[in-house]
Amino acid sequence: MHKRNKITVIGAGNVGATTAQKVLEMRLGDVALVDVVDGVPQGKGLDLLESFPVLGLSGDIVGTNTYDETAGSDVTIITAGLARKPGMSRDDLLAANAKIVADVTKSAAPLSPDAIIIVVTNPMDVMAYVAAQASGFPKERVVGMGGVLDSARFRTFISIELGVSVDNIQAFVLGGHGDQMVPLPRYSTVAGIPITELLPEDSISSIVERTRNGGAEIVEMLKTGSAYYAPAASAALMAQAVLLDQKKILPCSAWLTGQYGHSDVYAGVPVVLGSAGCEEIYEVKLTPEEQAAFDNSAGAVKKGQAATGY
Ligand SMILES: NC(=O)c1ccc[n+]([C@@H]2O[C@H](COP(=O)([O-])OP(=O)(O)OC[C@H]3O[C@@H](n4cnc5c(N)ncnc54)[C@H](O)[C@@H]3O)[C@@H](O)[C@H]2O)c1
Repeated sequence: MHKRNKITVIGAGNVGATTAQKVLEMRLGDVALVDVVDGVPQGKGLDLLESFPVLGLSGDIVGTNTYDETAGSDVTIITAGLARKPGMSRDDLLAANAKIVADVTKSAAPLSPDAIIIVVTNPMDVMAYVAAQASGFPKERVVGMGGVLDSARFRTFISIELGVSVDNIQAFVLGGHGDQMVPLPRYSTVAGIPITELLPEDSISSIVERTRNGGAEIVEMLKTGSAYYAPAASAALMAQAVLLDQKKILPCSAWLTGQYGHSDVYAGVPVVLGSAGCEEIYEVKLTPEEQAAFDNSAGAVKKGQAATGY
């Protein structure tokens, strides 16, 4: 008998609850929503369940403070942890979030030994490493969400600048999800045409800069939290690629084993994402400047990984 997919979302805050909503509305499967705060996952879970009749959805969502309900998940999405406040960098969150991510992974992983883990908590590349270590899963079954969001922001800004549909725009972002991400204009295209042919250098530089600061721009506006609609949509897109074995090529944080000249580090690279997780990493030729920017970014993640003590 065919069984519905099951998705665990850990952390029922802004990103987690919105991710739960998206995966339900995309009809990807049942959801277990977990949080430490008593009542929050239960309340949000019930509220989401009550949207089913209106939206014509079937299936189930359960909100819980424990992990029993997560057993047998196909995908586990980790959003638990602190988010940035104005003036904070993603790295300021490192120590506190490493402990949270290790704890939740150790609770969830044994109950869903075949799951693919998608890590959202910041600093994301380092947290993907912590989740991989804490789960003991093969590293290709733990991927980080950052590049999908960064490239969505890049695409948005290109679309605003050119006044054309975002549908026609592909964008390419490499490196860590942080201030050192490496947007690649040469590989970013509008209907197949590189943006370097369509936009002057100074507008490309300002789009690249705005993409790098895309998270901070929203933190400054919100003041009390960070972005969650586009992050949740990005995490749900990755869950869909895994659950439907789509083998989509998406920029994800993946464990490098020599690609782009780096090993033993999580960094944003183009990944073939399917039911086995990170099934392949695409390598493209980089210019010396792009390689240097990538090295810088991967170096920063390596330092962060070492600082976690895992
Ligand atoms: N990778 C990305 O692109 C990206 C984008 C946006 C946000 N983020 C990160 O995602 C994380 C969540 O952001 P948010 O806006 O949802 O924050 P939030 O504060 O709204 O939600 C975080 C939730 O985690 C819960 N939590 C804390 N410790 C827990 C534990 N041990 N077990 C279970 N739940 C626990 C909290 O109770 C809270 O409900 C942050 O670290 C943020 O920086 C990453």
